[in-house]
Amino acid sequence: MAAIRMSEVTVWRWVAAEERRAVLLRDVDWTVESGEHWVVLGPNGAGKTTLVNLAAAVSHPSEGAVEVLGERLGAVDMRKLRESIGSLESGIARKIRGRYTGHEVVLTGATGSIALLHDRIGAEDRARADRLMDEIGVEALRERKFEDCSQGERQRLLLARSLMDEPDLLLLDEPTTGLDLPSRERLIASLDAMAEANADLPTVTVTHHLEEIPASTTHALLIRDGAIVAAGEIAPTLTSEAVSTTFDIEVQVAHNSGRWAAMVVRS
Ligand SMILES: Nc1ncnc2c1ncn2[C@@H]1O[C@H](COP(=O)(O)OP(=O)(O)O)[C@@H](O)[C@H]1O
Ligand SMILES: [Mg+2]
Repeated sequence: MAAIRMSEVTVWRWVAAEERRAVLLRDVDWTVESGEHWVVLGPNGAGKTTLVNLAAAVSHPSEGAVEVLGERLGAVDMRKLRESIGSLESGIARKIRGRYTGHEVVLTGATGSIALLHDRIGAEDRARADRLMDEIGVEALRERKFEDCSQGERQRLLLARSLMDEPDLLLLDEPTTGLDLPSRERLIASLDAMAEANADLPTVTVTHHLEEIPASTTHALLIRDGAIVAAGEIAPTLTSEAVSTTFDIEVQVAHNSGRWAAMVVRS
């Protein structure tokens, strides 16, 4: 069973003010298998979040078919399906109580809630939270108040939180946005550690910087104006030509020790 399977997917929205259809995704075919770690790259407004929202069972396609974890969107209880999908939404950090310690923030993931529901959390959940914090490398934040954590520390705690409920698919939409270089690198290291510890867990990470691709990434999807430019195993996909087309600027792509970079070509 594929984790995500999209065929001939189109998403459009009616823009009332302009009396026209805005096409957000067009003719997307994409399959994510168990154990694959995808990066979705594209400029602002390319359709990355729209794509991830389909995979997250948050929205439906206008045309075409989307299957997530073997369930066809439109023929399944979306809320039930979402219980099997982990995500790191940007909004959640603002909703979680600042008074919670790092450990408590991770524990809230056991019930998929913002608040800590003590009566629904058992010794097993606590042990899992400890193991995940160790795995992600945030054990030092165990007793730190969430409000005292830096943005990068919060993101790493939320990453551990997203794994509490044992998801079968993990979606990360721009997890590194707003982080400085050391924080970004620590989060990327946590993503690599997570991938290593959860070998079968399929993941999709959205970014618009090649420098933010974790070394554990196996596949890449390049998207521009709602259409896929290239998709497949990362090394043959992330060519200078494909990345230049995607971002509409001539770049040279470099690949070194598993990490990626794009440099603008000056003529
Ligand atoms: N409800 C909507 N109605 C009309 N246009 C929308 C709507 N939602 C998003 N868009 C547009 O669709 C495009 C793709 O959006 P999005 O998927 O968020 O892009 P990305 O995440 O790659 O930056 C953008 O140009 C955005 O402005
Ligand atoms: Mg987006």
